[in-house]
Amino acid sequence: MSPRSFAIRSYGCQMNVYDSERMAELLRASGFVEAEEGRAADIALLNTCHIREKATEKLYSDIGRIRSAAMAEGRRRPTVVVAGCVAQAEGAEIRTRAPGVDVIVGPQAYHRLPQLLLEAERSGRAVLDTDMPEIAKFAALPPRAQRARPSAFLTIQEGCDKFCTFCVVPYTRGAEASRPAADILAEARALLHAGTVELTLIGQNVNAWSEPSDPSRDFAWLLGEIAALPGLGRLRYTTSHPRDVTDALIAAHGQLAALMPFLHLPVQSGSDRILAAMNRRHGRRDYLALVARFRAARPDLALSSDFITGFPGETEEDFAETLALVEEVGFAQAYSFRYSPRPGTPAADRADQVPASVAAERLARLQALLAHQQLAFNRAHVGTETEILVERPGRHAGQWIGKSPWMQSVVVEAPGLAPGVLVQVAITGAGPNSLAGRLVAAAAA
Ligand code: SAH
Ligand code: SF4
Ligand code: F3S
Repeated sequence: MSPRSFAIRSYGCQMNVYDSERMAELLRASGFVEAEEGRAADIALLNTCHIREKATEKLYSDIGRIRSAAMAEGRRRPTVVVAGCVAQAEGAEIRTRAPGVDVIVGPQAYHRLPQLLLEAERSGRAVLDTDMPEIAKFAALPPRAQRARPSAFLTIQEGCDKFCTFCVVPYTRGAEASRPAADILAEARALLHAGTVELTLIGQNVNAWSEPSDPSRDFAWLLGEIAALPGLGRLRYTTSHPRDVTDALIAAHGQLAALMPFLHLPVQSGSDRILAAMNRRHGRRDYLALVARFRAARPDLALSSDFITGFPGETEEDFAETLALVEEVGFAQAYSFRYSPRPGTPAADRADQVPASVAAERLARLQALLAHQQLAFNRAHVGTETEILVERPGRHAGQWIGKSPWMQSVVVEAPGLAPGVLVQVAITGAGPNSLAGRLVAAAAA
């Protein structure tokens, strides 16, 4: 019998992308193979996101689609695995709402996936594992066996104790927990050995990391350790919380050459009243002061952020303060969302919900401003030279796409390149979402 095949689909944040990679490695180590592109898999794994209603609803429509595709093609339906944050939050509900799901596994339990698949097969019933043993999965997973890729994520911290009043993450990912530095460094070395050039350290509150056995070793210390690893070209991290920014972290941006001049620092709103209602535990001025200090340490630092419009009680004045904050900071890019009431979160129960149409209209205004800033940021690079990390071939023959230090995609016409090389390019054009560049011959070796 040929080995059973699997296909994984990721929804949600970088951590889900990372978890999907680890699940793929685990399944491969357990004798499964990845389904070929375009071929039906024996196991369909959906790694889900619960952050907004839209993300959750997508799961149910995808389960239906998998079932009807199998039926239309006269195949047996594949074994369906629901992993990730919806599995954690709505495990029991999935069982009743979506018959035809075989395994439901939470983000802290997926190291048991091979056993769960066996169990489901033997029992013919849906099995559910949403235990939350703190970070136990990392010790139980096989070592990294990732295919060489220029840029890789590395989870260093998981979970969240912040309890912003709109957010499900503390419930789906559990309490803040840090992986030991020795494990992180071993994983980083394995990735670099496999040819990775850029590491992005990830965590729901990545800068809350501290060595579990020695809290004096904090996130800034860890950055220094990783930046010193041979073979590392670039270092990034995401997502950081303004509350966990330390003096040492700001200083690291001025000291570590490998640390890229780009920071994703979510603010959510520019209004102190809304920030307090969100339980962000920082004000507008705190945020602006942090930005100024980061920029003083690293003058070419570009910023990105997350915003929510239409949080309960948000008035036009509050929203105007968000727009004013955006004007004041000037973002290179940003993510913005219409507030989505999530079951079990305090904000969802508030009586002063903002009508969806108002939230949507504010979102459109905010996004127009952010798009304008992004284009201006991109245009400002035309005529400059910068280094890019080549990641993948472009659409046309001889074209390659790489990333600038500021996360911009840069398209270069240069047939001789390969993924994972750092090359110097002259920026010749700029659009809203990418730059065009020309190889600077001298640095192309
Ligand atoms: N830990 C990160 C963010 C995790 S979620 C932080 O604290 O910044 C990613 C983003 O999704 C959040 O920054 C927020 O902007 C958005 N988000 C979270 N819950 C949301 C909700 N209920 N409605 C709309 N957007 C939400
Ligand atoms: Fe959610 Fe707030 Fe935690 Fe970020 S800090 S994951 S927004 S609760
Ligand atoms: Fe979504 Fe869970 Fe990430 S809810 S954003 S997949 S932590």
